[in-house]
Amino acid sequence: MSRLTVAGPVPLRGRVRVPGDKSISHRALLLAGLARGTSRVTGLSGGQDVAHTRAAVAALGARVDEDGPGTVTVTGATPVAPAAVVDVGNSGTGLRLLMGVCAGVAGTTRFDGDASLRRRPMDRVAVPLRRMGATVEGDGDTCRAPLSVAGGALRGIDYELPVPSAQVKGAVLLAGLAADGETVVRERLVTRAHTEELLADFGADVEVDAGERLVRLRPGPLTATDVSVPGDPSQAAFWLVAASIVPGSDVTVEQVYLGPARNGFLDVLQRMGADLEVDRGTGDVRARHAALVGTDVAPEEIPGLVDEVPALAVAAAFAEGSTRFLGAGELRVKESDRIATVASELGALGARVEPSSDALVVVGGGGLRPGVVDSHGDHRIAMAGAVAAVAADGATTIEGWDVVATSYPGFEDDLAALTRS
Ligand code: S3P
Repeated sequence: MSRLTVAGPVPLRGRVRVPGDKSISHRALLLAGLARGTSRVTGLSGGQDVAHTRAAVAALGARVDEDGPGTVTVTGATPVAPAAVVDVGNSGTGLRLLMGVCAGVAGTTRFDGDASLRRRPMDRVAVPLRRMGATVEGDGDTCRAPLSVAGGALRGIDYELPVPSAQVKGAVLLAGLAADGETVVRERLVTRAHTEELLADFGADVEVDAGERLVRLRPGPLTATDVSVPGDPSQAAFWLVAASIVPGSDVTVEQVYLGPARNGFLDVLQRMGADLEVDRGTGDVRARHAALVGTDVAPEEIPGLVDEVPALAVAAAFAEGSTRFLGAGELRVKESDRIATVASELGALGARVEPSSDALVVVGGGGLRPGVVDSHGDHRIAMAGAVAAVAADGATTIEGWDVVATSYPGFEDDLAALTRS
């Protein structure tokens, strides 16, 4: 098993560009694969998750050509169910969105992934897709991978998301592209808007009613377009937290996506007293070290920062007072059970973390001591461990470090560059 050892404390200084946003990368590839004509996608995430989706788009019949690092051209085609099993690796987003696409494809598409992926519930996508007319078969009562989707004639539905999930919203809308009649997705809590934003860019007949919290889609063809993928805010969060907690730090993350339902972590950090400068024109976000205080993160904030909780929990360990993440039960079904893994791994570094069924409380004030962190096969736990390591006084090792390649293969290089001076 691979490991990373970091000797802290070490300030972070300089400018960094994080990988292209993972959520946008998946969707840009999928929509380009369905569109008429050739789309050019630049700034794609270089992580393995997106590489799996790219291979799946090609397996479904689109032509995908590499045109330099992070750049591909995709020529869309009517998708055809591939004979071989589609391997999505570690990517729940990839699988859920692909299930939506394949619900509209005649024939049976089979999917599988790694051990973490095989534990994740897919019934949240299977239920609406079945209601639209697809046949979805998976393992156990939560329809886990390996699973199959037999698609074909679909009908549009009016669906209220039972869990706040942009992945489910995306899957239903992608299926809706091939359905007979209109598809409406309603959400009680606002989730990230990439599917509807990109559908509009690809010329779909899509309408967003922000007041009613619904997206309405009428089926129809997509037209190829070029997509420039901005930096991933969920990756930026690691550097911004690291800079906030290590004295002497001053980091600017360049060209970060600052659209809806992705930047809740910036609000939380600001409430905690972080010294942030956000340039809405360029997307550059600068963080300097500051004294932090604990805060409450409300349930309705969770969907807008769901991936940033491991990083924020590290910040919370360095804050005065407690930080409570409330209504955070969705964290239990991510790449690991993040309520359990944040508690155990920050606990291993001396933090006082109190997990409950759907909340996580970090009792701050004590900082962190060096130690050993286990990634539990979860890239965000590994990277949160690295952020803890740069702040702790001594050498900290993250076991199972290689999983970081699923979303941020260059993390170690960027860490070295930011800690060089
Ligand atoms: C994602 C949505 C989130 C997030 C995941 C990516 C997406 O999941 O955790 O990393 O691209 O739609 P849920 O919307 O299922 O919470």
